[in-house]
Amino acid sequence: MNLNDIAKKMCAKGKGILAADESTGTIAKRFKSINVENLEKNRLTFRQTLFNSNAMKNYIGGVILFDETIRQKTTLGPSIPELISNHGAIPGIKVDTGAKPLAGSDDETVTEGLDGLRERLKEYYSLGARFTKWRAVYKISDKLPSSQSIKSNAHALARYAALVQEAKMVPIVEPEVLMDGSHNIDKCYQVTTNVLNECYNELKIHKVDLEGTVLKPNMVIPGSDCKDKSTPGEIAKKTLECLKKNVPSNVPGIAFLSGGQSEIESSKNLNEINKINDTNFLITFSYGRGLQASALKEFGKNQENIENIQKAFNHRAKMNSLSSKGEWSENLEKESAT
Ligand code: 13P
Repeated sequence: MNLNDIAKKMCAKGKGILAADESTGTIAKRFKSINVENLEKNRLTFRQTLFNSNAMKNYIGGVILFDETIRQKTTLGPSIPELISNHGAIPGIKVDTGAKPLAGSDDETVTEGLDGLRERLKEYYSLGARFTKWRAVYKISDKLPSSQSIKSNAHALARYAALVQEAKMVPIVEPEVLMDGSHNIDKCYQVTTNVLNECYNELKIHKVDLEGTVLKPNMVIPGSDCKDKSTPGEIAKKTLECLKKNVPSNVPGIAFLSGGQSEIESSKNLNEINKINDTNFLITFSYGRGLQASALKEFGKNQENIENIQKAFNHRAKMNSLSSKGEWSENLEKESAT
């Protein structure tokens, strides 16, 4: 498969991406919330339970893994990447090494991981990965994000993407404008515009073939402490307008992060976006919390109750699959849950 085919398969209509690439530190926070000890064995059990569920075949085009996970052998027989491929989805890998303090800027980060990346990519390819992820993070406040943060993160994202394509994999380009703060939706629109513009500027300079990429952006949404709430219709309209203006039309797929929205909010907003999608972009989900929160709760109740964990995951994956086609509804949400 060429890079464009892989990108289109990851975001195929009715499918999306499962972001199961929480670092050991991040999954520690998730496990703490359900009183599960953060052991390698528990991380494997939870993840292999999801990757072996029925939802994988119908609703999941790709799974983003963490370094530890892509090397693990399941207790079911195959390795983790084999298990994912056996279900018809594409294994992918997070390759950044995290957002680190940006020297010279207060309270901002630049995502690192370029050193030795060419060699690491070769190994990940040999382990079965066919796409990768790199996440840049931007905070909104009166003065932030700084142009220093916007430029340095875009430069790193572009160098990453060029190396990934050289290694014959599809780079997911993830510039995440955080929801934290009291800013309104228009501020998010403006910052997302600036961030996307700089990213595509750098991707062009680094000769990245956009047809072999997937964009993973935030939705255009008010800050979590903003008093002016927006309706899903407003969020959809502004998000789509922002993408139409700032994302080159040859990008095949756009897969949103959920970014701290609840499971229902992230399904509802994605659905509204697809209801009015008049572009050629395949618009879908690449959710972590938005796909796993309910399943994680079930895992906390009883780690051995595979059926309940998979049931919760199957339901969320199905709901988001409907949203990727603009076919989700409150009624289907309730019917299918019961
Ligand atoms: P959330 O959907 O929980 O934001 O996670 C997506 C992700 O991969 C963040 O990098």
